[in-house]
Amino acid sequence: MNTIVSASILNADICHLADELDKLRAWQVDMLHFDVMDGIFVPNISFGIPMLSAVRSYTDMFLDVHLMITDPLRYAEAFAEAGADRITFHLESSSDPRATLEAIRSTGCKAGIALKPATPPEAVFPYLSLTDMVLVMTVEPGFGGQSYLPDMTDKIRQLHRAFPDLCIQVDGGINEKTASLARGAGASELVTGSYLFQSPDPALAAALVRGENTSPQAV
Ligand code: DX5
Ligand code: ZN
Repeated sequence: MNTIVSASILNADICHLADELDKLRAWQVDMLHFDVMDGIFVPNISFGIPMLSAVRSYTDMFLDVHLMITDPLRYAEAFAEAGADRITFHLESSSDPRATLEAIRSTGCKAGIALKPATPPEAVFPYLSLTDMVLVMTVEPGFGGQSYLPDMTDKIRQLHRAFPDLCIQVDGGINEKTASLARGAGASELVTGSYLFQSPDPALAAALVRGENTSPQAV
């Protein structure tokens, strides 16, 4: 199965967001990764519900919403109404995981659970029957542009070995090299932000993250 590329707009040019969204189409990424930060769960504040509505009204891309907020249960319905296609929240948040998964699913959205680097993979096992995807964070959530934590490759592998059909997303520090590690360990979706937007050839960067063989055909 093809690897899915989800583009994080955290480090995109927000003043020209419509242009950036047009570029994502041209670069052939599969999803738009929308990072929501509340300044409490993580030490940074990004963007929220009004901006998601604006993005939804501009694009029909799959909106992959990553909530780095303290109380996702409280906001799940509002993010769904604003146009999310999938809502991922952190297991380490203060909301009850089962109630939050049920609240997300009742809106018709898909539901994901994210794990911070220090959280063991087993912590998510009790919730997998209600979960469409598990997000393995490969940096501490809060900022784009950090380096991939190499120890996380084994965590991806453990999850994949335990549940071979599970959709595993990896987020943080993904470039062509770390994408290869994550794919090799069993990840099926890769989030990429600064590597994609800062690349001199973002379409090639997206293809390399996906693992496509981009070398010229031998004649
Ligand atoms: C970090 C965010 C990531 C981040 C990815 O808290 O969840 O989605 O924006 O950006 P890069 O690819 O720069 O690590
Ligand atoms: Zn993210």
